[in-house]
Amino acid sequence: MAQSYILCTAFLFCFSTTALSMSSNVLRLQQRHSISASQTLLRQLNGTFQCHLEDRMDFKFPEEIKLQKFQKGQALLVIHEVLQQIFDIFRRNFSSTGWNETIIKNLFVELSWQVDHLETALEKIIEEKNFSWEKNTTLLDLKQYYLRIVQYLKAKSYSRCAWTIIQVQILKDFSFLYNLTGFISDN
Ligand SMILES: *[C@@H]1O[C@H](CO)[C@@H](O)[C@H](O)[C@H]1NC(C)=O
Ligand SMILES: *[C@@H]1O[C@H](CO)[C@@H](O)[C@H](O)[C@H]1NC(C)=O
Ligand SMILES: *[C@@H]1O[C@H](CO)[C@@H](O)[C@H](O)[C@H]1NC(C)=O
Ligand SMILES: *[C@@H]1O[C@H](CO)[C@@H](O)[C@H](O)[C@H]1NC(C)=O
Ligand SMILES: *[C@@H]1O[C@H](CO)[C@@H](O)[C@H](O)[C@H]1NC(C)=O
Ligand SMILES: *[C@@H]1O[C@H](CO)[C@@H](O)[C@H](O)[C@H]1NC(C)=O
Repeated sequence: MAQSYILCTAFLFCFSTTALSMSSNVLRLQQRHSISASQTLLRQLNGTFQCHLEDRMDFKFPEEIKLQKFQKGQALLVIHEVLQQIFDIFRRNFSSTGWNETIIKNLFVELSWQVDHLETALEKIIEEKNFSWEKNTTLLDLKQYYLRIVQYLKAKSYSRCAWTIIQVQILKDFSFLYNLTGFISDN
């Protein structure tokens, strides 16, 4: 035990579960890395398809969320929710796009990995009973925003153009997530 602890400090990055749940810095770095990887994958999908102006849509991202200050547990919960929603969107019918399935599969691997690590960290916070977020509408606002996205895709019959617009929108959401990782800290 003492030995493995020394090894952990010596190598800075130690991927044992205890180290993971203890260090906010490691969790933050991992989340940032994974968000960047997801963005890169999304950009690799062919998204240069030109759309008509009338296909554009304001999905009304709940802007006030960007100005909020979150505690660590709250930030983790918000990131978790957004990733789940993105996951659900890309599980829908994108056959019109001709997107490379391998890239989508890699995106799913990245998202699942991230969600798993968030859940481990969240479990720890809940276990320590250091979590409360009563009557907060943040998650509900986000759910409604993603519902609008899904309704749009359905209304446009999952067309190639609609997917291109969603792809751009989700890329922005990943930038928002990247910002949120700033709240993953111990103080
Ligand atoms: C929700 O929580 C965030 C972060 O703690 C806070 O900034 C915001 O004001 C809360 N919103 C409501 C409606 O309570
Ligand atoms: C609970 O979380 C808050 C905000 O993340 C932190 O400031 C506080 O020190 C934590 N308390 C305990 C007992 O861990
Ligand atoms: C997916 O959408 C295409 C048209 O874009 C359609 O031909 C196909 O039947 C749909 N597949 C499913 C499983 O709904
Ligand atoms: C992606 O775009 C390139 C260049 O426009 C094209 O050659 C390729 O066939 C496209 N791939 C798919 C899967 O649509
Ligand atoms: C799909 O993407 C993978 C990984 O980037 C690549 O190796 C493969 O050649 C691509 N397939 C097609 C049909 O473009
Ligand atoms: C991320 O944070 C920067 C700096 O606070 C801000 O300018 C930018 O608009 C934010 N982006 C998103 C998508 O929240």
